[in-house]
Amino acid sequence: MSLNVESAPPLDAICPYFTRFPLSFPMTYLRDAVPGEYLFDPFCGCGTSLLAARLKGLSCAGIETNPVAVAIARAKAALATPEAVMARAAALLATSDAREKLPEDPFWQHCFSPEVLHAVCRFRTHFSKTITPGTDQVLCALLLGVLHGPNDSMPCLSNKMPASYAPSQEALLAYWTANRLSPPEINVLEVIEKRAHYLLSTPLNKVNGHVIQGDSSKQAPYRSLGGVDRVITSPPYFGLNSFIHDQWLRNWFLGNSKGTDCLLDQTDTETYARDLARVWRQCASVCRPGATLVIRFGGVPGVQGVVPRTLLEDSLALADSGWKTLRCKPVFRKRNAPPTLPFRPPAARPCNEFELCGRLET
Ligand SMILES: C[S@@+](CC[C@H](N)C(=O)[O-])C[C@H]1O[C@@H](n2cnc3c(N)ncnc32)[C@H](O)[C@@H]1O
Repeated sequence: MSLNVESAPPLDAICPYFTRFPLSFPMTYLRDAVPGEYLFDPFCGCGTSLLAARLKGLSCAGIETNPVAVAIARAKAALATPEAVMARAAALLATSDAREKLPEDPFWQHCFSPEVLHAVCRFRTHFSKTITPGTDQVLCALLLGVLHGPNDSMPCLSNKMPASYAPSQEALLAYWTANRLSPPEINVLEVIEKRAHYLLSTPLNKVNGHVIQGDSSKQAPYRSLGGVDRVITSPPYFGLNSFIHDQWLRNWFLGNSKGTDCLLDQTDTETYARDLARVWRQCASVCRPGATLVIRFGGVPGVQGVVPRTLLEDSLALADSGWKTLRCKPVFRKRNAPPTLPFRPPAARPCNEFELCGRLET
């Protein structure tokens, strides 16, 4: 199997996630990693660091609180073939309980065509009960990815809307009505087939990877972890707290009427630093001596009086668990393309971002 670890495999794009970092970030810090090492990410989001670990043949684990991100991250570590994904999709459409009442509010009739809404609800009935490891995990994340989007370069199931977040029902309905936009009449199985062939076109390593749904500032999710060599992560930036709210449509698809947002207390920077310190302490408890730590962190425009680097360094000092900072460098992001749809994104472009590298010295 030939792998070019510097370029992102299609699986990286299985579903957008608003606060994700680029795959090149963990890949850069894994250049010298060797198979057999173990990577851990306590805020793994949609699993970018886990995919990087997989590309390098490393075992990996992550903790994440948002069910949508958990579902995407699990697919990044899963094994599946396009044929198996197709067969599973067809079987679920044929056999899932079709008696579920379809939502009737005008929003749903404008969002999906009748056929598509039927299919979406059938998948939802299944995935809100169970997502079996392997093929099911890939199919579920693939469907989350095509559930909504602008329907330009990639066919999506919904009427025209943003891909990486979902505006409110009221805002969407007003936009669709004002612009006389109707939902696409498409064949759901054809969309899945095309997408599965694309996403799984690069064969990836089979690695031991798992994603724990939980709060990384608590002890419980760490019980099954140990022997970690590398921590690569990006905690929620102070002031950005709406990971669930803006994913309400994907959350609905997973059967969660509401989820849990960032579980770190953002009342003030002192409380936040204390919560974050618990995470670094837990991380140290599952790491080998000499383990490395790479953290990407930054600020949220408009949040006054917070110096992200001081906040992060305070949290590491409070952890008092052997993490020593080695170096820190600023991150320069490419400018985002301006939004093409008239909806306000959940957050402005982050500011003062940096990458901090450390080591566990006990
Ligand atoms: C900056 S994002 C990380 C994105 C990730 N690096 C990626 O590429 O997708 C921070 C993540 O932390 C999650 N999160 C917030 N509080 C958490 C907690 N207490 N425990 C675990 N995850 C948490 C959020 O849901 C969010 O996905």
